[in-house]
Amino acid sequence: MSDHLTIVDHPLVQHKLTIMRDRDTPTAVFRQLLREISQLLAYEVTRGLEMTTKRINTPMAEMDAPTLAGKKLALISILRAGNGLLDGVLELIPSARVGFVGLYRDEETLQPVQYYFKVPEAMEDRVVIAVDPMLATGNSSAAAIDLLKQSGATNIRFLCLLAAPEGIARMKEAHPDVPIVTAAVDERLNEVGYIVPGLGDAGDRMFGTK
Ligand code: URA
Repeated sequence: MSDHLTIVDHPLVQHKLTIMRDRDTPTAVFRQLLREISQLLAYEVTRGLEMTTKRINTPMAEMDAPTLAGKKLALISILRAGNGLLDGVLELIPSARVGFVGLYRDEETLQPVQYYFKVPEAMEDRVVIAVDPMLATGNSSAAAIDLLKQSGATNIRFLCLLAAPEGIARMKEAHPDVPIVTAAVDERLNEVGYIVPGLGDAGDRMFGTK
């Protein structure tokens, strides 16, 4: 654990993650657990948001009550698996603005190439939370953060479910200013860039495409 990395070791998060890792867990259960766990992770990734107060009347008295300061948060889903985390986080922060970043890997250069990019206006004034369940090599995550910075974002956090040490190192090198929140850091990547022990292909498991 460091300023750059927060591992959410809450028992409910760890319990749900274990069920998600199990290859016998069906798609519908996987999806439901992802929704639940993303809300618990959202609680952590929004810790320390700037607050202000507003004057309200309770049935009993007037008071200055705490409320979130500034412009609405921007939640950015890194397609396609990011959408699985996005849904749960949006339930917790329904007023957030939402953006999408689509990247694919060029099989010759192995570099991420952008195929879709749409984000809210005034990114420079918002806390931006980029979501992608699997931080594997970190190449596409780092490229997505590059694009968000080019759009003006300066206050970015990265939320994932599982991370590999290689991905954390890559993000730390490319974007030391972007804190990462994850449920676990696994052992390693395999030769084709999957996290081991991991949970397989997060997109396939949540959308039932395999
Ligand atoms: N993406 C996935 O969906 N799973 C991995 O293990 C790595 C990247």
